[in-house]
Amino acid sequence: MLFGTARINELNHLEIGGCDTVDLAREFGTPLYLMDEEYIRKNCRLYKHTLSKLHKNSEVIYAGKAFLTMGMCKIIEEEDLSLDVVSGGELYTAISAEFPAKRIYFHGNNKSYEELRMAVKYGVGRIIVDNFYELEMLKDLAKKQRSKIKILLRITPGIEAHTHDYIKTGQLDSKFGFGLENGHAVMAVEHALSSKGIKLMGFHCHIGSQIFEREPFNMAAEVMLKFARDIHESFGIETSEIDFGGGFGIKYTDDDRPLSVENYLETLVDSVKLWSEKLNIRVPKILIEPGRAIVGAAGTTLYTVGSIKNIPGVRKYISVDGGMSDNIRPALYGAKYSAMIANKAGNPPEEKVSVAGKCCESGDMLIWDIELPRVVPGDILAIFCTGAYHYTMSSNYNMLPRPAVVFVKDGSAQLMVQRETYEDLLRNEVFKTNKKSVSFA
Ligand code: LLP
Repeated sequence: MLFGTARINELNHLEIGGCDTVDLAREFGTPLYLMDEEYIRKNCRLYKHTLSKLHKNSEVIYAGKAFLTMGMCKIIEEEDLSLDVVSGGELYTAISAEFPAKRIYFHGNNKSYEELRMAVKYGVGRIIVDNFYELEMLKDLAKKQRSKIKILLRITPGIEAHTHDYIKTGQLDSKFGFGLENGHAVMAVEHALSSKGIKLMGFHCHIGSQIFEREPFNMAAEVMLKFARDIHESFGIETSEIDFGGGFGIKYTDDDRPLSVENYLETLVDSVKLWSEKLNIRVPKILIEPGRAIVGAAGTTLYTVGSIKNIPGVRKYISVDGGMSDNIRPALYGAKYSAMIANKAGNPPEEKVSVAGKCCESGDMLIWDIELPRVVPGDILAIFCTGAYHYTMSSNYNMLPRPAVVFVKDGSAQLMVQRETYEDLLRNEVFKTNKKSVSFA
């Protein structure tokens, strides 16, 4: 499974963005996060064009939690997408990259007063209000503002969907958003409308991630439009925007069967139009927040193979120089991946192995049971589809420095985030010894 610009070159090496990954491993070291810039841009355009073709009054908001660096902000800006941030830190990243404030959507179920103040001061486009506490803080902040603070209210639609598994729970039991069933959503509208400094632009929901089915999106459209109708009837206001969040699935392995982008978006837009007509309300602006679908398949992690442990009749472990510190997803979600030996890219599979990380946890396994050509220490292992929720979820567990991030495009490689050093690992430690610095040279 090769994505984007990935191909096998004349040297039988994996090439991405016109760069030989074996050379990149040598130049930048491993583990290394590679991002295929052209593929990211292609995905941005695909989502934007497909959605606007289906419904002109629409917006694609990239969910920064999937992968965010200043360089990524620049790409999102250039591709004319908006940006969803979920914390002061993500907002700070966007501000530092000079991302246009009006195109920032600020999320989060526990924004602090300071974070909200920062968002209001910077003039973000929308604040997605999650709870009554936040609404009160915003009302207070609004008093000190000349222009109104534009918000969406996050609604808990009672639909939960995750890869091949969705349920209509009608549930209230979520840490996110205002519940429909218990009347909190209506109360939140009332509160928002009563504040002079706040302008309610519409509603938001997010039903899950890595969704493969149409039905959850149909259900979300139905629930949200019925709510918009109810609000129209009760308060006489029209809902101008509905943000349906992210969740569009991608293919990590051959077992994954996501819908095409066209199918996902057609389903959503058709459903919104259908329900608008049925309920006799104006079709709102449709917003979506893809994260994984923009960057997931554009990322590849390169590792160097180290120790190999063969337990005859049981299993062959090949260990790499990273692990759960740069990819927590297998340990956290049982996530599955496909991979390739980058320096033997076209070779046929010869043996079944399991890929182990180097962290001190038995659960630190990146891939169980994968067929690869014969693996030897020093080989470069490329794990695919690591663009979303890898760099952003990485840690320094076992004091492992975080990998570098390199963008590749048209045969050139650009270092976007440098590899952490051992000094970086201690930079916030206040405790000092008399020793000036440690050198292993
Ligand atoms: N909008 C909201 C409000 C969200 O909470 C999320 C993801 C997104 C958009 C983007 O969803 P996407 O299109 O990427 O599915 N760490 C997990 C994924 C957590 C997703 C959280 N919210 C993983 O590695 O699979």
